[in-house]
Amino acid sequence: MPSTIKEKIKQLRDTIRYHDRKYYVENNPEITDYEYDQLLKELQQLEKLHPEFVTPDSPTQRVSGEPLAQFPTIEHRIPMLSIDNTYSDEELREFDQRIKRMVEIETHQDIEYVVELKIDGVAITLWYENGLFARGATRGDGFKGDDVSANLKTIRQIPLKLEPIDKKPKVPSSIEIRGEIYLPNKEFQRLNEQREEEGEPQFANPRNAAAGSLKLLDPRITAQRRLRLFAYAIGYSEGLELKTHIQCLEFIRGFGLPVNPYTQLCKNIEEVIRYCNEWDKRRGELDYMVDGMVIKVNSLDLHDQLGATSKAPRWVISFKFQPEQAVTKIEEIVVQVGKTGTLTPVANLTPVLLAGTTVSRATLHNFDEIRRKDIREGDYVILQKAGEIIPQVVTVLKEKRKGTEIPFTEPSTCPECKEKVVRDNTEVYLRCHNPFCQAQVKRRIQYFAGRDAMDIEGLGPALVEQLVDKGFVKDYADIYYLRYEDLITLERMGEKSSQNLIHAIEESKHRDLDRLICALGILNVGSHTAEVLAERFDTLDKLANTTQEELEGIYEIGPVVAKSILRFFQNKHTQEIIKKLKAGGVNTKKLATQKSGKNPKISGKSFVVTGTLQKYSRKEAETLIKSLGGRVLSGVSKKTDYLVVGEEPGSKLDKARELNVHILDEMTFEKLIN
Ligand code: IVH
Repeated sequence: MPSTIKEKIKQLRDTIRYHDRKYYVENNPEITDYEYDQLLKELQQLEKLHPEFVTPDSPTQRVSGEPLAQFPTIEHRIPMLSIDNTYSDEELREFDQRIKRMVEIETHQDIEYVVELKIDGVAITLWYENGLFARGATRGDGFKGDDVSANLKTIRQIPLKLEPIDKKPKVPSSIEIRGEIYLPNKEFQRLNEQREEEGEPQFANPRNAAAGSLKLLDPRITAQRRLRLFAYAIGYSEGLELKTHIQCLEFIRGFGLPVNPYTQLCKNIEEVIRYCNEWDKRRGELDYMVDGMVIKVNSLDLHDQLGATSKAPRWVISFKFQPEQAVTKIEEIVVQVGKTGTLTPVANLTPVLLAGTTVSRATLHNFDEIRRKDIREGDYVILQKAGEIIPQVVTVLKEKRKGTEIPFTEPSTCPECKEKVVRDNTEVYLRCHNPFCQAQVKRRIQYFAGRDAMDIEGLGPALVEQLVDKGFVKDYADIYYLRYEDLITLERMGEKSSQNLIHAIEESKHRDLDRLICALGILNVGSHTAEVLAERFDTLDKLANTTQEELEGIYEIGPVVAKSILRFFQNKHTQEIIKKLKAGGVNTKKLATQKSGKNPKISGKSFVVTGTLQKYSRKEAETLIKSLGGRVLSGVSKKTDYLVVGEEPGSKLDKARELNVHILDEMTFEKLIN
């Protein structure tokens, strides 16, 4: 037992740091977010009572201070140079030859390189003085950058104090660590969905979103963006005796900073080329954007000998991936109405293969974009997936126009309910404000039945369309009153599929509370916030009767989200629907928590195993997954969470890529289960 307050505080801080590392660096959390928040709250309370014990490296200091008016400028001790680019194997060989000439190594001798993924994010530098995080800055013009310390401190992967994990490396008196801040694709999508619901303009790609989030003047907002870091170099240091770049990375990793796991030491340039080409094909597997590879001479002695030009060091080069592009025709431009009424123009395309998937639709984002690019129905366009996940229309091939293309006119009324549409306060989006608009109703029902929500198998968009059009359901609660006799009358619904759907609906009544909360479609409440709310409130009634104050007291919930939750439950229409859900037998309580011993990354997730694994037979792997609470399926479908891939995988891998299923190689799988 800690005998003094001071010791108790220290113990809490150590525990929190331990869990930060488990979560953010090792990807292997041991406690729930709720439990983590409790630890943080306890520490906050103790520090409030005993301000004399507050230190700058306390986890409570991650989000602190008031919004800034502007960022101070920092001069870099060592300039943050850029990297020269190459685009082919040949250019990489030339790079290797050039180096050998400059340092007088014989052509046939090998130079060792470290090859890293080139993360498509924002370059930053982190200064530590006597082991404490002193400040951090963006690259800026390479010589001076913005001091974004307050924002960087909100990123839990960045230690506020350097502590060696296994007591080995000594903390240097002064060190500058460089790396890339990025936003995982999932977070990018979540952020854009949230912005769409709030009527804010969307970010074009994860890099812009990361840059925008890092440059916010209010660190409290940055804290919600869930930015991440990969550290890739030591910029400046005192008293270190490292000889190679790979040692530098090991050193950084030794202090718990995240270093990309796919970093590879290559014996010579041919190995480098093989590794680069491997990742050109594999980049789609990652949950973050990479725009190429970075190749660094391993020996630091050679770095010194090679030096730098005014633009870039000579010991490093990047191998840029080609953005994947395709040409296709815009068949028509349609306008979609989202579940909160936002109108989005979407292009229906002649199907075309792009980056491994067949693309037949592309979002055109908003009406200004159509005007700016002068996109017309019948146009041939270049489509691209580069820093974006969703294909973008890059340009119109105007030289291919025949004169029959039809310019697009912005709608003045909702394409569905014909109500007049309104430009929202950001002036970017058009919105339909009719809550009974059939399109919105349909989207809400689809969302309710969707995978993150009540997961009702078989209740897809086409069926929802029919159910609403025929008047069988007016809101999502009506789903629980559907009868077999109704379903069988619908198009493409036979006996078997009707029975299956009735069964799936029945089954969905027993979903856990977080899924139900998510399914309700409350503005600003997605699946993560829903989990947080379910942890806290146990029952839907308790949540429905909460207060603004109580909600804001929850670590991850701010005033905007709190307000939309309250507004949702105060709405008369909502209250009726909830009554109907309950009467229909839908569970509104938190189910008993899972038995311990289950792995939260695996539990409830569905897996398919394919190919030959090194360490396990297929059966063993499957038993292991089941014992950790996962489900094992035989074929890959949209519902598969993970495909575990061994040697010679076959067609399941292609299918998984096509469906964007998360693919795990044996090493990553191993990490997940441990
Ligand atoms: S090393 C002087 N390593 O790419 C060399 N940079 O195009 C310092 N980047 O500004 C950079 N991943 O923001 C390095 N593994 C990696 C990287 C990386 C992404 C970025 C970095 C740099 C830009 C140059």
